[in-house]
Amino acid sequence: MVDAMEITSSPPPVCLADFAELARSVLPPQVWDYVDGGSGSEVTLAGNRTALDRVGVLPRVLTGVATPRLRTRLLGREYAMPVGVAPMAYQRLVHPDGEVALAAAARAAEVPYLASILGSTPIEQVTATGAEVWFQLYWLRDRGLVTDVLARARDAGCRALVVTVDVPVLGRRFRDLRNAFRLPPELVAANLPGGRDDLAHGGTPGVNPVAVDSGAAFAPALRWADLRWLGEHCELPLVVKGVLDPADAVRAVDAGARAVVVSNHGGRQLDGAPASATMLPEVVAAVGGRCEVLLDSGIRGGGDVLRALALGADGALVGRPMLWALAAGGQAGANTALTLLADELRDALALAGCADPAAARDLRTVPMG
Ligand code: FNR
Ligand code: LAC
Repeated sequence: MVDAMEITSSPPPVCLADFAELARSVLPPQVWDYVDGGSGSEVTLAGNRTALDRVGVLPRVLTGVATPRLRTRLLGREYAMPVGVAPMAYQRLVHPDGEVALAAAARAAEVPYLASILGSTPIEQVTATGAEVWFQLYWLRDRGLVTDVLARARDAGCRALVVTVDVPVLGRRFRDLRNAFRLPPELVAANLPGGRDDLAHGGTPGVNPVAVDSGAAFAPALRWADLRWLGEHCELPLVVKGVLDPADAVRAVDAGARAVVVSNHGGRQLDGAPASATMLPEVVAAVGGRCEVLLDSGIRGGGDVLRALALGADGALVGRPMLWALAAGGQAGANTALTLLADELRDALALAGCADPAAARDLRTVPMG
């Protein structure tokens, strides 16, 4: 049973964008900026939306479909729809229930919850919600610690390992620098051994403490050989998140990836990188069915998931909207957001004449406008 969200102010959210305004009204401005912002001039952040808006999906008519089925297999497991909650750090920044609330909502919606290694709740408490948890790794400098954290994720019951490869250094986030953003002292990176998050609380003017922290903990100079090592040493299905170049996607498959996430980190890393939706068709063509392909960066509703499918993706991840919903209404807010997404996707598939997500992959896309 999914709880209805209790919103004191009417009208209730009818789409994910409605949660943005609710979140903005409850979050401290510097936390809002950390979540909402991108790197540099935020060209890539804006480009993600522009690119999705430019994807016209050609609907099919008279296909005899009344109620599409949303159920989908990803990484060999069945989910209620081809959507996952993107890994996002420090979720207790926006709501005291943080990771547990979002994971519980993912469980209720039967979608995967991707748990960031920078989570503010221990991974064991996240898997205890009963959610299908995919563990997201930033590669630690110490390979022994990588092995330890992988064993911990496996023992906690995580279903997949997602290695994020687009953060050799943290993108330069002008909003965070201007706000002198830092993590509140009570917030810790609960999965990092040895309290590696200390630096994120510090404050040197002009320096982003989250970037300093990440720089200290994470290995900046990874190579494909490291990924192959990971593929060989991890029993969980390997997902590589943060590829845009089709040749990199092929290398990821060659190194053992079962899925790639075409992503520019929601415009938070290389400003000037292309929109992930722009690169998706080339990636799909390059991997030629040898791995699953997921899309993130800019997904704001079921219509965007339909676009991702029509461009050839197997599914999509949703980032910021889940934090908006969490901030606005805790788990109930997140339940509502995922219910809206499922309802929107069901309607979008029906309107496009598709019986299921697989059929959507055969839809034609044409440039909008
Ligand atoms: C992120 N993202 C991210 N990715 C990752 O692999 N590990 C992480 O810890 C984080 N942390 C994080 C924090 C916040 C506040 C945001 C907004 C994003 C990136 C995330 O997984 C995803 O790629 C983007 O958020 C997708 O774009 P949208 O849906 O937010 O536009
Ligand atoms: C971010 C990092 C932590 O995007 O992934 O903020």
